[in-house]
Amino acid sequence: MKGIILAGGKGTRLEPLTLPTNKHLLPVYDQPMIYYPIHTLVKAGIKDVLVVTGDIHSGQFMSILKNGKQFGINHLEYAYQEGGSKGIADALLYAEDFADSGPVTVILGDNTTDADISPAVADFKAGATIFLKPVADPERFGNPRFDKDNPKKIVEIIEKPKTAVSPYAVTGLYIYDQTVFSKIKTLKPSGRGELEVTDINNAYLKDGTLDWTELKGYWSDAGTFPSLFRSNRFWAKKKLGGQYGAVVKGNALP
Ligand code: DAU
Repeated sequence: MKGIILAGGKGTRLEPLTLPTNKHLLPVYDQPMIYYPIHTLVKAGIKDVLVVTGDIHSGQFMSILKNGKQFGINHLEYAYQEGGSKGIADALLYAEDFADSGPVTVILGDNTTDADISPAVADFKAGATIFLKPVADPERFGNPRFDKDNPKKIVEIIEKPKTAVSPYAVTGLYIYDQTVFSKIKTLKPSGRGELEVTDINNAYLKDGTLDWTELKGYWSDAGTFPSLFRSNRFWAKKKLGGQYGAVVKGNALP
């Protein structure tokens, strides 16, 4: 299993923070954001990793991640997505040669989680596996609609619906077999001008090969100010433990 981190796009929702640097290099508590998806992949035993990035600050990634050895990565590659924010599915297309006809675990560079995805990675055989998480604001995400008679069966995924059709977000973690690239090549840009990951997942659904599992533990994206703040708060609490209270109250730390 190879791993792909999608870290392209322009990060316009986080301007002016993204004027001097790439969104995925902004701090989430004590580490650049992209460290978190790297740790998620490495924890799942994935040590062959491609980072897809783009736009003006893309050169900064190499000086920070280097050859990946400090994370336990054996082989780290970089790819450059042209044309700014052309979509998650467009970014993934740059991974076709890297995947070399094998399965890939894909994670969005602004998603952080403390979940262990090793079992899903180890059990993966074919098709696609997506990870769902109940959230307070499912209309902000890919949102699955379930069969009325079979509440475990997804019938459709809607990208950012006006009104949510279930309490779940489709998180930015996906496991795909090698058919993902031919599926992407059939996609058309959405209303927001992007090739959508939701359309990839709906293509697997149409094939009858989309599987899902619930992501256990904490998960959030970090692409807006509220979600970036939430991610910082979660990781600060988790890493500081009981000392977090002292920090927020402004007391000196031991
Ligand atoms: O976080 C999960 C959500 O991510 C999913 O529920 C949605 O279905 C999916 O569309 C996506 O939603 P967003 O609209 O919030 O994604 P955003 O544009 O913020 O992009 C998320 C990451 O994907 C970004 O940090 C880097 C990567 N990306 C995005 C675009 C648009 C690229 O690598 N290239 C791109 O062109």
